[in-house]
Amino acid sequence: MLTRRMLSSAAHVAKNTPDHGRVLTVDKLSPAILNAEYAVRGELVIRAGKLESEGRKIIYCNIGNPHQLGQKPITFFRQVLAATQYPELISSSGLAEDAKARAAEYLANIPGGTGAYSHSQGIPIVRKQVADFITARDKVAAKADPEEIFLTDGASPGIQRVLSLLIDPTLPFSSKAATGKARKHGILIPIPQYPLYSASITLLGGAQVGYELDEERGWELSIDSMKKQVTAARAQGIEPRAIVVINPGNPTGQCLSAQNVAEVINFAEQEGLVVLADEVYQVNTYRADRPFVSFKAEAVKNKSHVELFSFHSVSKGVLGECGRRGGYFECYNIDGAVKEQLYKLASVSLCSNVDGQIMTGLMVQPPKKGDPSFAQYNAEVSELYASLARRAKTLTAALDGLHGMSCNFTEGALYAFPQVMLPAKAVAAAKAAGKNPDTFYCLQMLEETGICVVPGSGFGQKNGTFHFRTTILPQESVMSQVVEKIANFHNSFIKKYE
Ligand SMILES: Cc1ncc(COP(=O)(O)O)c(C=O)c1O
Repeated sequence: MLTRRMLSSAAHVAKNTPDHGRVLTVDKLSPAILNAEYAVRGELVIRAGKLESEGRKIIYCNIGNPHQLGQKPITFFRQVLAATQYPELISSSGLAEDAKARAAEYLANIPGGTGAYSHSQGIPIVRKQVADFITARDKVAAKADPEEIFLTDGASPGIQRVLSLLIDPTLPFSSKAATGKARKHGILIPIPQYPLYSASITLLGGAQVGYELDEERGWELSIDSMKKQVTAARAQGIEPRAIVVINPGNPTGQCLSAQNVAEVINFAEQEGLVVLADEVYQVNTYRADRPFVSFKAEAVKNKSHVELFSFHSVSKGVLGECGRRGGYFECYNIDGAVKEQLYKLASVSLCSNVDGQIMTGLMVQPPKKGDPSFAQYNAEVSELYASLARRAKTLTAALDGLHGMSCNFTEGALYAFPQVMLPAKAVAAAKAAGKNPDTFYCLQMLEETGICVVPGSGFGQKNGTFHFRTTILPQESVMSQVVEKIANFHNSFIKKYE
């Protein structure tokens, strides 16, 4: 039976929806939502899903999601996590003693256990573990402070939260600009970049200011290029507020030298830019002469006054625990009142998930020499490192050796980003099909080989060049097939259009 209240509420809805249709239709969404793009899960992946539902075997090389491609979890981490979820396991004989002790320590320090909301900034004992890790990693005079650490649901929400501090979408902007009043906040991002940045900047109403990495010089960054971009942006009424650096690079795989890092810090300080150092691949480095260099360490060593946020995650490294959604960011030289606002923003979401926080604690404080789990932990991690380094070498060497393709060695992170010299006929055929040339190439690769990669246009690339990104994550037994399939496809594609 319809009540009076239901009738009046139905009348209210009808009055506000003249066509009696839906209130929420795509044409009524904000342009920021419609314009945001995320190629890593874009057209190629949708097509791959369709093919898979029709029974094709697909190898997903589009995303750095290690466990999806068969990487095994580290035993110690999962044992601790299991016991924090189900405390009865702490008295069982099936788990290592140090895993049980660590689980008991976490539970003793998390009021209410893993089912309760935690402190909004993150569980204090985990933030202390993160701070101790940073102090030991950076080996600089200043100790890291747990109060400067925010635990997050993976690096992504932390990055988005910091970007939201930097971009004021209410600024009046006109593309004619240069009136002195019309402004938009800009963020410098590398080209190529990881599309979390382009998408988030678009969503927040900011402007991307791209600085190109130099492919010929191993994807090195150039301060000159950054300076030019900052000057050009200012002339268009865009006010650059921050610079993003991804080190090791995604999709480009380069590891920055200490000199490069110091130059960026110096440049940012001179130009009045906040630095966002995306260091989620800090553990994934494959060249002894190109170790990871932390922005925080260089900032302290250079006594810099730069304002810096550095990000880390449990999704990469040797954990690959992407689904766990754990990570943190560290604030360096950030104004106290701004940190209060950050804390407020964290509180709006109550807290990051507690399992992810525990995984973050485990990532930064794994078993030490002498602990019961150390031998197994060390064996698992060493094997994984060695295998990732071999895969990086095998894949990039094979791609670089193909006619019509060049590929820089993957010094770090989990990807290869080869350039494909597409013949003019292929470019024309792509245009006729209404596709970007690199998307056209990648779609054909998917159809013919079942390998799903991401076109370079999803990351940004120098005009007139074409790339794709693939991961180094297929297991070694599968990697040789991947390499062979890509090579066969590429050779026949080039032959067809040359
Ligand atoms: C450079 C970079 N930053 C951030 C992220 C986000 O990682 P998370 O899973 O921690 O949100 C990724 C994920 O691939 C990445 O490649």
